[in-house]
Amino acid sequence: MTEMEVNVCFCLFVLNQCSLLASSFSGKLLYSNDTSIMEFDIDTHNLTVLVEQGSSVYGMDYDYKNRFIYFPRYNIYDIARFPYPSENRTLQTIVQTEQYPIGIAVDSANGHIYWTDISTHKLSRCVLDGTNVTIISTISNSWAIRLDVTNRWMYIAEYNLGILKSRFNLEEKQTIVSFTSGGAYCMDIDTDGNRLYWINVDGDMNSAKVDGSDVKTILSTNVRRNYYAIGVFGSQIYYANEYHQLLLVTKTPGSKPTVLYNDTSEIHSIFVFNQAAFHGKLLFSNHTSIMEFDVHTLNVTVLVETVGSLVLSRCNLDRSNVTVLSILRNPWVIRLDVKHRWMYIVELEVGILKSTFDLSEKRTIVNFTSTPVYCMDIDTEEIILYWINNNGEIQSDRDDGSDVETILWTNFTGYNFAIGVFGSYIYYADHNQLLMVTKTPGSTPTFMYNDTSSIYCIFVFNPSGMKITNYNHL
Ligand SMILES: *[C@@H]1O[C@H](CO)[C@@H](O)[C@H](O)[C@H]1NC(C)=O
Ligand SMILES: *[C@@H]1O[C@H](CO)[C@@H](O)[C@H](O)[C@H]1NC(C)=O
Ligand SMILES: *[C@@H]1O[C@H](CO)[C@@H](O)[C@H](O)[C@H]1NC(C)=O
Ligand SMILES: *[C@@H]1O[C@H](CO)[C@@H](O)[C@H](O)[C@H]1NC(C)=O
Ligand SMILES: *[C@@H]1O[C@H](CO)[C@@H](O)[C@H](O)[C@H]1NC(C)=O
Ligand SMILES: *[C@@H]1O[C@H](CO)[C@@H](O)[C@H](O)[C@H]1NC(C)=O
Ligand SMILES: *[C@@H]1O[C@H](CO)[C@@H](O)[C@H](O)[C@H]1NC(C)=O
Ligand SMILES: *[C@@H]1O[C@H](CO)[C@@H](O)[C@H](O)[C@H]1NC(C)=O
Ligand SMILES: *[C@@H]1O[C@H](CO)[C@@H](O)[C@H](O)[C@H]1NC(C)=O
Ligand SMILES: *[C@@H]1O[C@H](CO)[C@@H](O)[C@H](O)[C@H]1NC(C)=O
Ligand SMILES: *[C@@H]1O[C@H](CO)[C@@H](O)[C@H](O)[C@H]1NC(C)=O
Repeated sequence: MTEMEVNVCFCLFVLNQCSLLASSFSGKLLYSNDTSIMEFDIDTHNLTVLVEQGSSVYGMDYDYKNRFIYFPRYNIYDIARFPYPSENRTLQTIVQTEQYPIGIAVDSANGHIYWTDISTHKLSRCVLDGTNVTIISTISNSWAIRLDVTNRWMYIAEYNLGILKSRFNLEEKQTIVSFTSGGAYCMDIDTDGNRLYWINVDGDMNSAKVDGSDVKTILSTNVRRNYYAIGVFGSQIYYANEYHQLLLVTKTPGSKPTVLYNDTSEIHSIFVFNQAAFHGKLLFSNHTSIMEFDVHTLNVTVLVETVGSLVLSRCNLDRSNVTVLSILRNPWVIRLDVKHRWMYIVELEVGILKSTFDLSEKRTIVNFTSTPVYCMDIDTEEIILYWINNNGEIQSDRDDGSDVETILWTNFTGYNFAIGVFGSYIYYADHNQLLMVTKTPGSTPTFMYNDTSSIYCIFVFNPSGMKITNYNHL
């Protein structure tokens, strides 16, 4: 057996993914008024005052890696932070700024904070602990700032002009949206949907693609004033109005907003804390190791450096009682649907075999026309199988072998070893590259990470969505 085969054996996880978090967001909304930062529980509607910061706060962002909320204090001229979630919410000033800091964005992956200020018009950056303050640029009337850390784009709302898009160092800058009526003071980005959302001073809540095209109005409050707070997550938009209210509306134009909470003073910023994404981890393997990839921080950690062996057998979790179950025709990947008690095995030059756990009842549900296939994953929620063939096609079908569909031509012909499916995404590898694509046929893949060697296996780890996960290298 070659070294490569040995490593691929780590794909043989016995897995049960019972429920997916995509459908069950239980998040927290953080918002600020003139004196405090509050946590609003979206499920229970319970409100907790987190900190009393003694200043207006027009922006907040989160460091998902080290777990701090960062915010600029408009009247105190500093950038402060506190640990979250935590019982100890001691405020720390990390930078003394010039007058009137306004917008903030955290780049956990590179350990940087960006902020804008409204008196000197500077865009500044420092390290997460407040050191190494650098002025990046001067931008006329910069207010809100948002980062798409995965694709490395920065978006800045210049309140009387439009939305500026640029690289993190301000290269390739272009105005993608021009505010036609008086401007906007709040903006958020939905990095999954690739859209920007803002509310202009006429009370129109608008959205556009990240290239500035396809501008849509979701709702009009018909009240002319400055709107300071908007936060987008999944299909929901959270915002604040002139009555000191925190509201929720879906992204569908024409939806009716719901009042979540009536505060006693004006709400100046909103941040949607996504507990689920906070735990987003992807495991993948190359020749020598199994790595953990943090979807938020983009941090890669080597978990184990080791090898296994390829046989179809079973043992107990403590490795006792190894039993040979069957001899198959070049079995490669194995996936279990524990709920319905079916096992799916890729026989690499043959097809996909569906069988009971003891192999007593088995049949080939897919015959590969373009052989061989080295990877497969199952979405146990929808019972759909996904694989990549050696023509580079990502395909899917139902558990009875029907509805075979091509989702994407990766253009990578040859060995495709790694696929992992979770929620509405498919994660896969192309040589050294880790990529993701949505399940909709014809979607464009997003590049995530370049490893130093070919990636042979992906496993999507979701602590919040999983009831039982046990794996067992055979
Ligand atoms: C609401 O939050 C408070 C303070 O954090 C806590 O004591 C209380 O139990 C919570 N209530 C509910 C219904 O979760
Ligand atoms: C609370 O957090 C602050 C700032 O992070 C830290 O300096 C302090 O030691 C912590 N206090 C306790 C009791 O953990
Ligand atoms: C500090 O910032 C300068 C200029 O951007 C950069 O060259 C340097 O590497 C930074 N140092 C640290 C420790 O981040
Ligand atoms: C907020 O206040 C409005 C009127 O001022 C009231 O109709 C509404 O029920 C209140 N909503 C909540 C969630 O308290
Ligand atoms: C800010 O909101 C909190 C929670 O609703 C409230 O206790 C506090 O009084 C508000 N601040 C002002 C200035 O109204
Ligand atoms: C990645 O995470 C590990 C373990 O949590 C940590 O030791 C390491 O410093 C992190 N690397 C980066 C680049 O942040
Ligand atoms: C060991 O495997 C055999 C054969 O599959 C089975 O009959 C027996 O119950 C197993 N013992 C334990 C302790 O799992
Ligand atoms: C796959 O091929 C085998 C043998 O040629 C045949 O018995 C089986 O019905 C085929 N299955 C499908 C789903 O086409
Ligand atoms: C595959 O190649 C074609 C032509 O070179 C290109 O248009 C297409 O975007 C590529 N597909 C992917 C997924 O990279
Ligand atoms: C990743 O590697 C590929 C070639 O292996 C290269 O074309 C691409 O530019 C790299 N991407 C990044 C972001 O380093
Ligand atoms: C596998 O990937 C890890 C993390 O990127 C890297 O440290 C290691 O050198 C890679 N193995 C090989 C054989 O390149």
